[in-house]
Amino acid sequence: MDLLKKEFYKIHLRYSQRKAFRKVPLNAKLTSEQYNKYLAEFKANGIIVIDSYFAQEADELLKEYDYFFKDIKKDDKDYKRIFSLSIKEDLFRRVLDSNLLQLLCEYSESQQYLRASPGLNITYPGFADITSKNIGETKYRDGGFANFYHLDTPNLRQYHILLKDVGMDDPHMLYARKSKQKHFGLHYRIASEEYVETNYELTHCVGPKGTVYVFDGGSGLHRMYATEENYRMSMDIMFTPGNSILKESCPIVNIGEMKFDGFDELQKESLKYLK
Ligand SMILES: [Fe+2]
Repeated sequence: MDLLKKEFYKIHLRYSQRKAFRKVPLNAKLTSEQYNKYLAEFKANGIIVIDSYFAQEADELLKEYDYFFKDIKKDDKDYKRIFSLSIKEDLFRRVLDSNLLQLLCEYSESQQYLRASPGLNITYPGFADITSKNIGETKYRDGGFANFYHLDTPNLRQYHILLKDVGMDDPHMLYARKSKQKHFGLHYRIASEEYVETNYELTHCVGPKGTVYVFDGGSGLHRMYATEENYRMSMDIMFTPGNSILKESCPIVNIGEMKFDGFDELQKESLKYLK
């Protein structure tokens, strides 16, 4: 076993001792019936997609961060990302959605912590989809574009808010449903196109602006589906049970000034490592 794999196993072991969380009331975005349905679906598949869940917040985010979204170039041919955002407290409270946070806690059976500042993301590949047959021909053969099936950092669970309509002809994430249930052993961090096609059904993370998808990328296989012409815009919010926190590299710019009015206990606790 090489050193990197040993480190991964050590992280898993260290965080197998997890902190309990206390349930909080749901906010008005979901009824308890809807919440229970999504939780069951998330536990079974490792992913859920909720259309237009953040429709209002998506418009506010686009307005708030127009400087980031106004100059989108195909030539970037990559992700354009920004972390360490300055965020208005009220908008932050709503995008750090308590229903989704609780869903992640219940799924993980432990308190979840924000790993970093929510990030803004423009995905503009500028090339057609890559498969394991031709991946070696591109500059992304090392995985820099996440365009082959992979697992993320151990215990990383997250949700992405689409900030434009994203359809099947736009770049989007593919997730192999139920792949989280299999332990991939020593070769568990990547998988071929053929393996995934043979063994799993896919969820396409598409939908109208404001759609959110919540997924377990730490234990379920996923990749970027690339298209040449179009791009995707999103806000990405990442959680772990406490490992791999990116406090130094991506602090939230104005969190120290927040009063956390209206944040519930689950939300406040989730910020513990970023304060
Ligand atoms: Fe990933």
